[in-house]
Amino acid sequence: FDISRFQHDLIQWYQENKRDLPWRKSQDPYKVWISEIMLQQTKVDTVIPYFYHFTEKYPTPQKLAQAEEQEVLKAWEGLGYYSRARNLHTAVKEVVAKYDGQVPSDEKHLGKLKGIGPYTKGAILSIAFDQPVPAVDGNVMRVFSRVLHIEEDIAQAKTKKLFEKVVGEVISKEDPSSFNQGLMELGALVCTPKKPQCSLCPVNEHCQAFALGAEEKLPIKSKA
Ligand code: ADE
Repeated sequence: FDISRFQHDLIQWYQENKRDLPWRKSQDPYKVWISEIMLQQTKVDTVIPYFYHFTEKYPTPQKLAQAEEQEVLKAWEGLGYYSRARNLHTAVKEVVAKYDGQVPSDEKHLGKLKGIGPYTKGAILSIAFDQPVPAVDGNVMRVFSRVLHIEEDIAQAKTKKLFEKVVGEVISKEDPSSFNQGLMELGALVCTPKKPQCSLCPVNEHCQAFALGAEEKLPIKSKA
């Protein structure tokens, strides 16, 4: 497995094919944070109008911190999973109180904020701060289970840890933002759960599942 060619092929494809999404217009860590929380359980097409409305209503951490919870929940209405909004509001108030409104740029402080787990932490550090930290969700596990033919059960917590270790070893140090977003984009557009478009895949030369014709057998998941 040639890591540098894999990185290059993925990043080049991402840069040439990425969707023009509103949260890709800036590296503002506050906006990256909001987008990643919204995208966790909600589809891209649904998130787009909410992201515009929310970031226009609350353009800075200070504005969001000052808002009443009921008003924040109202802006979230329709996205569901309201604990995401409550945790985000709590965490943003902490950022304003403790860090003068600056989103922490290190794993230790960022990871302690309410609602920021390993995925969101990696997404913010890589996309907003260009740090080589993995951001592993179900899409990334699917892509990597196929590329490296990993047959571990992705429903198990220890498997997510295994993928975090693997992605941490493969992630580009030069452009971790494009690398992580390239994986997300590949999982969304090409390396899909059913009928993946392997013939169009920018990394099919590097993919063990494709070589074995096993792409639709992976990932292995014991429970829905
Ligand atoms: N899913 C999760 N994060 C995403 C992002 N930054 N862009 C597109 N889809 C995503």
